[in-house]
Amino acid sequence: MDKPVYYAATETGEKVFQVAAPGLKFGPGALAEVGGDARDMGMKRVALITDANVGATESAVVVMESLNKAGLDVAVYDQSRVEPTDSSFLQAARFAGEGNFDGYISLGGGSAIDTAKVANLLACYPDDLMAYVNAPIGAAKPVPGPVKPHIACPTTCGTGSETTQVAVFDLVAQQVKTGISSKFLRPVLAVVDATTIDSLPPGIVAATGFDVLTHAIESYTAKPYTARPRPGSPAAPGPRPPYQGANPFSDMGSLKAIKLGGRYLVRAVRARTDTEARDGLMLAATLAGMSFGNAGVHIPHAMSYSVAGLNHTYRAPGYEKVDPMVPHGISVVLNAPAAFRFTGPVAPERHLEAALALGAEADARKMGGGEAGGAGEALATRLIAMMKETGLAPGLAEIGYGEADIPALVKGAYAQQRLLAQAPCPVSEDDLASLYRAAMKYW
Ligand SMILES: [Fe+2]
Repeated sequence: MDKPVYYAATETGEKVFQVAAPGLKFGPGALAEVGGDARDMGMKRVALITDANVGATESAVVVMESLNKAGLDVAVYDQSRVEPTDSSFLQAARFAGEGNFDGYISLGGGSAIDTAKVANLLACYPDDLMAYVNAPIGAAKPVPGPVKPHIACPTTCGTGSETTQVAVFDLVAQQVKTGISSKFLRPVLAVVDATTIDSLPPGIVAATGFDVLTHAIESYTAKPYTARPRPGSPAAPGPRPPYQGANPFSDMGSLKAIKLGGRYLVRAVRARTDTEARDGLMLAATLAGMSFGNAGVHIPHAMSYSVAGLNHTYRAPGYEKVDPMVPHGISVVLNAPAAFRFTGPVAPERHLEAALALGAEADARKMGGGEAGGAGEALATRLIAMMKETGLAPGLAEIGYGEADIPALVKGAYAQQRLLAQAPCPVSEDDLASLYRAAMKYW
């Protein structure tokens, strides 16, 4: 819990926060119970949504055996795209539409889980994909009601998609990442079994692990929920948004996830045999997912959408088997040090606590030439050290961006107002240009 001052009440501000989360099963062996879980939910005919690589792993065998043992009729869809696109979502939706399923099991990274969310949605309530996509890119039509139950089984330690109500994809024609957000898209149950990540290459552990860390740090440093106008008031006539801002519940998960990430991320990348580290990172991913799913993320994620959307030539270590692209976690963390240097002075105590949880030097406050700048600087410095230790690119220039790309990068990021609104301070287009410039090369 935080010092109450961060949540100071105001006359017109929000006074209520709410917590939405799926059921959770966590631990080695959990995956083998998924058939019974599905049957208990009343599923009879299920779609198993995965991708070709994960579909060929031992985890897929475990899930299939469990579903078969439970007497379920299973149809496998293994064509989810890593970093899904509008067309890959629509292909999965066609499969779902024809299958008459009464439940969905997703097995894979955030991509497979998000694909299952959208396939389930479009099979239940057929419409154009863009109808449901967040404004201003799509029409932001509300999802009409509950969809079929979805059990999400992550096989990476990153996205937290198993706990969230969001599905993200690459809208190819507009070269931008966008998504659909609805409480009805949240999986009913998350089955998190760390044995699924035993065979992940180090590059994928690094990319997804840094996604975890930035989820947690962004949630922790997000604008407090009390800073929003109260829902139903003239200033906020609509309902309470899913991304409410930092709150005492999200703080607990975020801070614990930052600590676990600081302790285990580098170890998990370096040694495939370090199961303690990979278990710890998987727990961090789940806690961070439950936190940012209620609190929201801000500048590094808003900036990541165009970093990933405009570049289809980068080949990250560990992602050799898929088409060139910037993995989500890399597109996020490359912006993070610049963003936290920018937000640090606005909420120095929060940034200092995050820096210390991540393992920054005990005198972190003194960095950056003074108290106000020191916290953001300490956080950025510790993150950069971890990026170096795990072999990440030293900045956006390394993955192919330069000064000439900044206007297009800014345009994509500025469109993500839903996320930028969670930042602890206003963010202008000029600010974004400066942040991209600062993110070009850290070392
Ligand atoms: Fe993320």
